Formats: sequence, C-alpha cells, structure tokens
Amino acid sequence: MSELIRNELAKRLREQGKLTFAEFMSIALYHPTAGYYNRQAMTIGPGGDFYTSPMVHPIFGACVARQVWQMWNLLGKPDPFFVLEMGAGVGTLAVDFLQMAERDAAFFAAVRYQIVEQGAVLSERQRAAAAERGYLGKIKWYQTLDEVPGKQVGVIFSNELFDALPVHRLGKREAGFVEYYIVEDGAGYREVEGALSDPALLELIDATTQELLQVGERLEVCPAAGAVIEQMGSLLETGFVLTIDYGNLAPDVYLRHRKGTGVRAFWKQKLVDPLERVGEQDLTADVDFSLLVRRGERAGLFEVGFTDQMHFLGGNGFLHKVAELQNRSRQQFDLMADEELHKMLSLFMPQSLGEVFKVLIQAKGMEPAAIEGKLGALTFTLDE
Ligand SMILES: C[S@@+](CC[C@H](N)C(=O)[O-])C[C@H]1O[C@@H](n2cnc3c(N)ncnc32)[C@H](O)[C@@H]1O
Repeated sequence: MSELIRNELAKRLREQGKLTFAEFMSIALYHPTAGYYNRQAMTIGPGGDFYTSPMVHPIFGACVARQVWQMWNLLGKPDPFFVLEMGAGVGTLAVDFLQMAERDAAFFAAVRYQIVEQGAVLSERQRAAAAERGYLGKIKWYQTLDEVPGKQVGVIFSNELFDALPVHRLGKREAGFVEYYIVEDGAGYREVEGALSDPALLELIDATTQELLQVGERLEVCPAAGAVIEQMGSLLETGFVLTIDYGNLAPDVYLRHRKGTGVRAFWKQKLVDPLERVGEQDLTADVDFSLLVRRGERAGLFEVGFTDQMHFLGGNGFLHKVAELQNRSRQQFDLMADEELHKMLSLFMPQSLGEVFKVLIQAKGMEPAAIEGKLGALTFTLDE
C-alpha cells in the first residue's frame, strides 16, 4: 500500500475514529494521486486487474454507437447532438464509438462528444487514445458533472461507472439496520458494527428488500449512484440515459449477496480481500438498477426498458458482424477470424458477459409511445 494512502487513512481514522466503507472506498479508489484509479500505474485491461467490455472487442463500442445513432434519429437528427460518456477509463469506448459514428457523416458532424472523468491520469490516457485515432479535437473533457452546461438534447451513457462508486455496507439486526465501519487496530484494517452514519441510507433500500432480508444478512447501498443519475437527468432537456453495468433490479440485486459478498476486490483478475492492498486493487459492487430508475424519476427520467448485454448487442447489429466473420472464417479457413469471433462472443454469451451485464435505458422530454418498440436494445425482450 502506498504511503500516501496509509497516511490519509491514518489521518482520517485519528480524526473520526472509524470510517464508513464508502469513505474507505473513496480513498482507496479516488485518492487524487494514489487511489486505484488515479495512480500512474493503473492496471486496467488485458494483463491488468480487470478488463471491461470495450477492451474485449471494438464491436461493443460500435453497438453503443449504433444505439445512440438510433436515438439521434428518434429525436429528429438534432445538430448539435450532445453525447456524454461518464467514467471513460482508458478511452477505448469513446474512440470505437466515434469510429462507428463516422459511417454517417451527418451524425458524426452533429455529435458533440463529452467525457466526464474524475481522474487526471485516466483523462490523459483518454486524450492519448483519442489523439492516436485522430479524434482529439472531437472530444471535450470535464472532471465533474457539475461543470457540464445543462439543457442538453442528446444521450448520456456509461459502462461500469456505477459499480465503481463508493458504497456503504449495512446489515439487518433484530432492532433494525446497522452499518459496518472500518477501523485500524495495528494488525490491519478490520470491520466494526455501529449505528447508521445517516438514517437516509435506508431510503435507498426498497420496501421489498427491507422485508425479505433476514436478521444477520447484509447489503451494500450506494447514495452516490442516486445522486449521479439524478444529475444526469437534470442535464438533459430531451434525450436518453443509457447505463451498462453489472447488477440487477431490487430485490434480486440485494438478495444475491445477502451473506455480505456484495463488495468485490480484484487484483490481477483474482478475487481478493477488500481490506488488503488498499489503493492497489479494484473495489466494486453490484448496481441496484431500481434505485437508478427511482432516483432518475426525480429529474424527469422515465424508464424505457431494462435488458441485458446479450439482448442489447443482439438488437444493435452484433449478429450481422458475427455472420460476416463466420463467413470469412468458413471460406478462407481464417484462424484469425475464429479468434476474433471468440472474443466477440464472450461479450454476448450468457455464461460469459452477456447476462451479468445489464442495460437500463431512461428517457426525458419525450412521449413514451414515441419510443416504444423503436430501440434496438429492446428489440428482443428478456425472459421473465
Ligand atoms: C470501472 S472503470 C470503467 C471504465 C470504462 N467505462 C470502461 O468500460 O472501460 C470506472 C471509470 O469511472 C470513472 N469514475 C468513477 N467515479 C467517477 C466520477 N464521480 N466522475 C467521473 N468519473 C468517475 C473512473 O475514473 C473510471 O474511468
């Protein structure tokens, strides 16, 4: 663990005695220079601690672009067209999106691509990726959503943003909910139980989950997720919010991890103890999509549909590309095409990433009937 992180945690623990898990996670991931996402030695991607769908194959970015292009059409081809990606990692999705967008000159000309990225190291990497593909002038960067001008017509999207936001860890006891805090006792960081740091945390848990959770069981709640989706909604006058992440609707998202396994730490693609190697390993938690729906409503967003990555890709041209590659592979005994096909299919197959990743589409400023049945992502419905 870096000295900077150790010192920051020690200082905060001296001042406060204990930290909520959300405070601990904020320092571990977002300390300005030593946090996991802000270190020079960020190890995201193949060979790193974890990889994300855009890094598996450019078809992912192409399908996102295809979906956004369709939204642009539905909105009457506005120019300028605001496209905001929040939490862009190393910039792969942005450049793949723009490359696909170039297929329609009018769409590409209308797109005003914005990235909101909290970290300087990552936004530098994004700039480098954009420069390499000739898109530097096409993207505008912000550090927070607060800096972005409002009243926009367009689309805001994210991939694996919400799962990286800090969560509080709670548990159910006979007398009600308790919170788990982090303390340091010389042997390392450990958890202690205490009263809720803020009674409003309970408002993040839907009534069914509160009822179904048994005494002794646990869950994680993410106030930051509610705040972010609300802010996204407020930036839009008319348009869509597209969220891709792992998680589920409540109560399923909570009941799956009721033994307290909802926060996961990844180090070199292995699951490890979240309280070790602070700042050197990724921390992540499943997203409660029901919370995004509820809190989005406060900012005028309504739910258009909820699906998974397999259906999202399937409805956005993925299968054409697969068929193309299959033909190539068959006709030319092309082993490279075979390998590429396997990568693509790992995004799609339910046992791989196709089912764990979910997709939520919300809209604002439109008649629901004008959208119904018109989005590729929702062409194929989810089995109940
Ligand atoms: C798990 S990574 C996903 C990266 C990328 N979307 C991908 O799919 O490869 C999370 C990203 O969200 C960014 N992030 C987290 N919290 C943020 C915030 N509050 N504002 C802006 N970016 C944030 C991180 O810095 C990082 O770029």
